[in-house]
Amino acid sequence: MPHLNKKVYLETYGCQMNMADSEIVLGLLNEKGCVLTEDIEEADLILVNTCSVREHAEQRIYGRLGEFKSIKNKKPEIIVGVLGCMAERLREKLAGEKAKGVGEQVDIIVGPDEYRKLPELVAKSWHGERGIAVQLSRIETYDDVAPLRTNGVSAWISVMRGCDKFCSFCVVPFTRGRERSRPLASILQEVETLSSRGFKEVTLLGQNVNSYRDKNYDFADLLKFVAEVDNTIRIRFVTSHPQDMSDKLIETIAEHKNICKYIHLPVQSGSDRILELMNRNYSSKHYLNLLGRIKSLIPDVCLSTDIITGYPTETEDDHRRTLDILENVQFDGAFMFKYSPRENTPSFKMADDVPDEIKASRINEIIQLQSKASLINNSKHIGQILEVLVEGESKKSSSEWYGRTGGNKIVIFPKSNLTAGDYIMVNIERANSATLFGSIQKSIVLEDAA
Ligand code: 5AD
Ligand code: SF4
Repeated sequence: MPHLNKKVYLETYGCQMNMADSEIVLGLLNEKGCVLTEDIEEADLILVNTCSVREHAEQRIYGRLGEFKSIKNKKPEIIVGVLGCMAERLREKLAGEKAKGVGEQVDIIVGPDEYRKLPELVAKSWHGERGIAVQLSRIETYDDVAPLRTNGVSAWISVMRGCDKFCSFCVVPFTRGRERSRPLASILQEVETLSSRGFKEVTLLGQNVNSYRDKNYDFADLLKFVAEVDNTIRIRFVTSHPQDMSDKLIETIAEHKNICKYIHLPVQSGSDRILELMNRNYSSKHYLNLLGRIKSLIPDVCLSTDIITGYPTETEDDHRRTLDILENVQFDGAFMFKYSPRENTPSFKMADDVPDEIKASRINEIIQLQSKASLINNSKHIGQILEVLVEGESKKSSSEWYGRTGGNKIVIFPKSNLTAGDYIMVNIERANSATLFGSIQKSIVLEDAA
């Protein structure tokens, strides 16, 4: 394999798994001599790590691929690669003989389980060969690949890949394949390396982290071991499925100070009829009981969820039930989506019969209700002193920092003599539905936190 003395520009779309995968891709390319550039104009290789979860995500990426045409016109030798879920799902469309428009610009197509082949495909593409690698794997976890991390404070680690849940609406089981877990020892080793490099936050990632398993160890065991590596590192994890969120896992979160008291637990709908059609394998009652147990063991927990509105056959009554569950739980945050039919999924066979105007009006109602809950929850923090991990300069003002609380709330506060990665105590003075604002109390290390 020749040395690839090339500059690579990479854009990432979609979920945090994709962000983590992009770092793996850069790690693999870097090992073969590629360097990262932030300037697309000077790149030899443009990569786009893509998302297929909703039609809108794919449309955006198609638009972006269209824009690369002018770059290719100016610099015909430039190589464009499509990675990730769209590469997996739309390989024929992107690679087909008759591919017109965006397909013409694409030289390399690589699915989520074939990134190891990327350096070779890149090398070949310089000799005019179009490369495609889209096999899914039952074993690939990239456990021996060193990701190229550009952020020195927070790190993602994929602990499992794929999904076996087959929610009726979801394309992920088809684009990312079957569930498999990365060996526990290799995860712990990576956390130790991150600790020695001064990282302050680790997020364990998986489409379905509660399904993690390595021999007799489950996700609760993994979380405990990871938390115990370095108690100045905060531990987060996403995403959990309500079906297998065990009491053992809830207790593990409660017992460890450096495991963030934040759980993202997608409910998708408040209607049992719709949940059944979605193949979610729980009822709204089960979900509410689960949240009851979580709140009793972790009283200061922050909760967020995902909601889909306008699933096939959803009636006004089903929609009311979704509003009811939001009203009842008062989540700290929610990601809210209009249903988008995805080819090959079981729901795709059902008519997408909720008209877009209805989806739009339902999602507006959901968003309004949720912003009220977020505002109420955020306002409860006014007057509290919260521990915040400093992440960087505020996007809106160069005289302010931003950071996050353990509960995953963004906090803005005036700049002082700090650097990203410092833990500080912030006195919360003001809040809106998205952000908390405050002033610095004192600098601390996590062990000394009150
Ligand atoms: N349409 C709309 N939203 C979807 N999601 C997954 N598939 C679809 C779809 N076909 C949402 C779910 C999931 C989140 C990551 O994306 O809410 O939890
Ligand atoms: Fe998709 Fe359901 Fe798997 Fe999440 S749990 S990735 S929504 S199939």
